[in-house]
Amino acid sequence: MFSVIRDCPCVPISILSVLIVFKSMAQIVVCMERECHELNAKFDRLKSYFNDGQSCNLSVDGWTVCRGLLYFSAEKHNWSKSRDVCVSKGADLVTITSQNEQDFLVSKIKETHWIGLNDLETEGRWVWVNNQTLEETGVEFWFGSVQKEPDNWKVQDPSGENCASLGDRNGNLHTWFDGSCKQQKKFICENKY
Ligand SMILES: *[C@@H]1O[C@H](CO)[C@@H](O)[C@H](O)[C@H]1NC(C)=O
Ligand SMILES: *[C@@H]1O[C@H](CO)[C@@H](O)[C@H](O)[C@H]1NC(C)=O
Ligand SMILES: *[C@@H]1O[C@H](CO)[C@@H](O)[C@H](O)[C@H]1NC(C)=O
Repeated sequence: MFSVIRDCPCVPISILSVLIVFKSMAQIVVCMERECHELNAKFDRLKSYFNDGQSCNLSVDGWTVCRGLLYFSAEKHNWSKSRDVCVSKGADLVTITSQNEQDFLVSKIKETHWIGLNDLETEGRWVWVNNQTLEETGVEFWFGSVQKEPDNWKVQDPSGENCASLGDRNGNLHTWFDGSCKQQKKFICENKY
């Protein structure tokens, strides 16, 4: 044994170094597998987060935030103040431009909320905060077929009802109502990016 080493010391050393190299390669493979597994788990979490339209979280300041796009307020304000709060967050009041969007918002609220629809500028001409008309978006979800909204009811507020909400006080949460812009309601902001 000793003579072998003395005669050719490079042989066991090279075997040893091959073993060391092999072992560290094996360790690298194990590490890569673990890393890969962790990355996959992270990817799955991210994927479900972005695919899952239901992914909404309550933030520390009481807002419910859905995918960083929609913000449901905890506080109540009149319509213009609500809009100001949205704008101060780099957003605006929400615009509803599809049945899917309508259904999603309805599924998230438990009481009436202001949305970004109004006829403040011209009575009867309803526009979204981005100036799109209902004809342009092609969808509207006003309450009722007999007692139809919008009705610009003037009993409560002589200036009429120029701001729209999703739902009313009576819990008809899946349709739109025009209301006095002075009413205090929760509201939904939408980030535009
Ligand atoms: C956000 O909400 C989703 C489901 O709505 C939940 O799976 C996830 O853990 C929440 N994330 C945080 C950071 O709370
Ligand atoms: C919408 O129209 C008003 C004037 O009618 C204008 O002041 C405002 O900048 C317009 N907003 C957008 C987003 O185009
Ligand atoms: C809305 O509320 C703000 C702040 O509370 C107030 O300054 C403003 O006059 C109100 N506007 C209307 C139309 O009620």
